[in-house]
Amino acid sequence: MATSFDMVLFGGTGDLALRKLIPALYRAFKDGDLAEDSRILPVCRQQADADSYVENAREALKIHLKADEYCDTLWGRFSQLLWVVCLDITAPDEHWDLLVDVFSSVTERVRIFYLAVPPAIFSRCCETLSEKGLIHAHSRVVVEKPLGYNAETANEINTKLALYFPEESIFRIDHYLGKETVQNLLALRFSNVLFECLWDAKSIDHIQISISETVGLENRAGFYDETGAMRDMVQNHLLQLLCLIAMESPNSMSARNIRLEKIKVLESLRPMVGTAVDKHIVRGQYVAGNLNQVLVPGYLEELKAANSGTETFVAIKAHIDNWRWAGMPFYLRTGKRMEKRCAEIVIQYKKVSHQVYGQQVGEVLPNRLVIRLQPEESIKLVLMAKKMDSLAIKLQAAELNLTLSDTYDSFKSDAYKRLLLDVVENNSALFIHREEVNAAWAWVDPIIDYWRQAKDQPQLYRAGTWGPTAADELLARDNRHWFNAQ
Ligand code: BG6
Repeated sequence: MATSFDMVLFGGTGDLALRKLIPALYRAFKDGDLAEDSRILPVCRQQADADSYVENAREALKIHLKADEYCDTLWGRFSQLLWVVCLDITAPDEHWDLLVDVFSSVTERVRIFYLAVPPAIFSRCCETLSEKGLIHAHSRVVVEKPLGYNAETANEINTKLALYFPEESIFRIDHYLGKETVQNLLALRFSNVLFECLWDAKSIDHIQISISETVGLENRAGFYDETGAMRDMVQNHLLQLLCLIAMESPNSMSARNIRLEKIKVLESLRPMVGTAVDKHIVRGQYVAGNLNQVLVPGYLEELKAANSGTETFVAIKAHIDNWRWAGMPFYLRTGKRMEKRCAEIVIQYKKVSHQVYGQQVGEVLPNRLVIRLQPEESIKLVLMAKKMDSLAIKLQAAELNLTLSDTYDSFKSDAYKRLLLDVVENNSALFIHREEVNAAWAWVDPIIDYWRQAKDQPQLYRAGTWGPTAADELLARDNRHWFNAQ
């Protein structure tokens, strides 16, 4: 039976709440995963926003849900769960007492505070929650990545959160961990002997992890220009995927055991200092170009600025210095305004050790395992097989293809739905622990510091392409190439 809860959404009118959180909660409700006496309390600063909230949330749902997901009758029932609260987080005035009143009659059940607000006000918010006696034994707090701007600021935030909540009640979200195929990746690795015994530098030539996006700045120019792709995508999503790919098998899927293995990976990442950064990392920034036959503006035009050294693209050749992965490169790449939207992990195996056929059979290509997280979710294994249309032996690449979205037609995965329900059920396996945040920043910080000191400027790439040519050269130097999404 679903657990009843109260969830306060600080930043209720923000993009995250309307685009992701409310739709995810609606989906959970639709699927029968929410207890109907639960309450969702979006917090608005202005009374006018509070007055129009329910209608605005309905409009947002219509935009952000798939066409067949929204239904007026269901919305009617779901909207009964919404208890809009108007208060200014930074002014602990009498409006907070409204929140106190809301909770006065419901004291025992799970209480979740989702801080979908800038980190600068986390501390103030938690302080007031504590002063008003709103934090109790079943309270949990949820925060979003990127946590902090570097190790130091992340540590400050975490220290402040720890004043009010024990670590096990702090849920740091990285929505990539809620994606269905990311969880499938763990199932694939740890439930199949087939892959687990071929999962190391002896069998694998290299691994690519790519997250390419077609969007540009959206409405986040100020935030993005301060942040850049390294902090926005690499420090969290890409490194988390790398951890799941590279970690040793945990002895159970408990949050603690998974975390211990992930931290070992982060700590084994070979540090990049000084000129190693120039050699192994390419940073880029898009200029105007054609994306799907539409001319889109460049980064500076979107930003409305004359110049900026912020990267919108990063490609990295990384190494994990441990027994399993010694000597084998991991290529990581992410960028905005690229040719296609795709998140994909490619495991490129080595060639067979001895060619038994002659040249006439055609090229014997190495096996490749391709795990696609989006836009559609699939797992594909490329094998060599004999062509069936002739007596003569000719080889061709054939695919074993598991397209999850075809197999589970009605199954609509939503990372936020999954993660929010995990918060309700107090399951923190798919969340980031404070020590992981520290370890990730410890690897990323020296790279960003080097760029700043060297006054490094990003290399330009046209929107609608796969990034700067230097990113192709990074692999070409190793006689390899990116597997760009088709
Ligand atoms: C967010 C980043 O964490 O992830 C955004 O801040 C990015 O810049 C987004 O666009 C990508 O998420 P998804 O799920 O659309 O790949």
